[in-house]
Amino acid sequence: MELPFAESYKIKVVETLKKSTRQEREKWIEEARYNLFNLKSDQVFIDLLTDSGTGAMSDEQWAGLMRGDESYAGASSYYKLKAAIRDILGFGYFLPTHQGRAAENVLFSVMVKEGHVVPGNAHFDTTKGHIEFRKAKAIDCTIDEAYEIENEHPFKGNLDLEKLEDVLKKYGPEKVPMIIVTVTCNTSGGQPVSLKNMRGVRQLADKYGVKVIYDSARFAENAYFIKLREEGYANKSIREIVAEMFSYADAMTMSSKKDAIVNMGGFIGMKDEELFKQASTFNIMFEGFITYGGMSGRDMNALAQGLYEGTEFDYLETRVNQVKYLGSKLEEYGIRYQRPVGGHAIFVDALQVLPHVPREQFPAQTLGIELYLEAGVRGVEIGTLLADRDPETRENRYPELELLRLTIPRRVYTNNHMDVVAAALRNVYEKNNEIHKGYKIISEAPIMRHFTVELEKA
Ligand SMILES: Cc1ncc(COP(=O)(O)O)c(C=O)c1O
Repeated sequence: MELPFAESYKIKVVETLKKSTRQEREKWIEEARYNLFNLKSDQVFIDLLTDSGTGAMSDEQWAGLMRGDESYAGASSYYKLKAAIRDILGFGYFLPTHQGRAAENVLFSVMVKEGHVVPGNAHFDTTKGHIEFRKAKAIDCTIDEAYEIENEHPFKGNLDLEKLEDVLKKYGPEKVPMIIVTVTCNTSGGQPVSLKNMRGVRQLADKYGVKVIYDSARFAENAYFIKLREEGYANKSIREIVAEMFSYADAMTMSSKKDAIVNMGGFIGMKDEELFKQASTFNIMFEGFITYGGMSGRDMNALAQGLYEGTEFDYLETRVNQVKYLGSKLEEYGIRYQRPVGGHAIFVDALQVLPHVPREQFPAQTLGIELYLEAGVRGVEIGTLLADRDPETRENRYPELELLRLTIPRRVYTNNHMDVVAAALRNVYEKNNEIHKGYKIISEAPIMRHFTVELEKA
């Protein structure tokens, strides 16, 4: 008999979860102005809002905390992290930052100016925010297949190289400071980019004299999918694949809260000394001195250890298998989601689950609220609220897909939790004939509105 799959770790510390009644949740979500970000964590039973900073650190990472060197300058923890980044990712220069968007802020302060155009596969919201804040334009060159929810394309994170070349031709290197490749591509469903595509991007960048930056939050999950799905890589180790991936990048920004399995932290990796020097000035201004940049020594130790653990095949297999497990339950219940299963989340098709809620009443947000009411499960809207308004026309931007992201924290929940999530979603799906109305906005911020938006019943 073939042995069943089991996790590659065991549990040493646990945290109590609070259950609640539907009545309590109705009150709490109304008080939260129907914004799931406004809920208190003890009002949530299973929290799938994000995989960012929500993972469980290992015993070795906790041990690293005790050994942190908190010297302001030249801490051994900084050198430990520097060595791990060089060893695993191949960048000779690096700057610690307090998280991923801080890395974007520092790097873009050097590279992005008013009037610039920044193409990429599909920019993450903070990345787009930092570009638009500088009065530059972010252009998504996503492959069309990424929007076909049932298309099983193995690399839906790929850039459409023709669309990319059109942008490079039209604006040239004077206007295009960089191409951003997000691995995996969060916006299109935690979908990976193939090495073939990364090579293609590099060739175009060299042809037009433009730099390539990787937004690397989930680089290890990307490498795992390359090993499984790309021809010629089945026998390569995750670290070999990671090394090849980053060989095509000039620099990287990292939100360490994902694939490095820490609760806070980020960094910029660079190959060019001049870029490092320029970025250092901004790092000192915005983050902290170059050898800590917004991180404690103990956190840099945990991060260095997390980079090694996060690039272990057994860990990645356990991680992605849990996402796959939730996907298989939803499939069993006939609920549609972005296929194939991505690395960190299931992206549920809200337009299928709630077909009667009009687009202008935010169906994915409505689904998120219904799921919360049903079982205290918190997901996050990846739809019209997130897509925000066009900075010029101020009209709502309606994305191709209206999705509810169920994001699975690393090493935190069991598959029993996944069963609850799937059953709750099924219950909502089964009563969708009763759900015709969504929500309308009472107040919103001028940029990145989804974090703080306030809503009422439509
Ligand atoms: C692809 C991607 N880039 C950048 C970020 C920003 O990182 P942070 O939340 O650490 O600021 C995120 C966070 O979710 C992300 O998913």
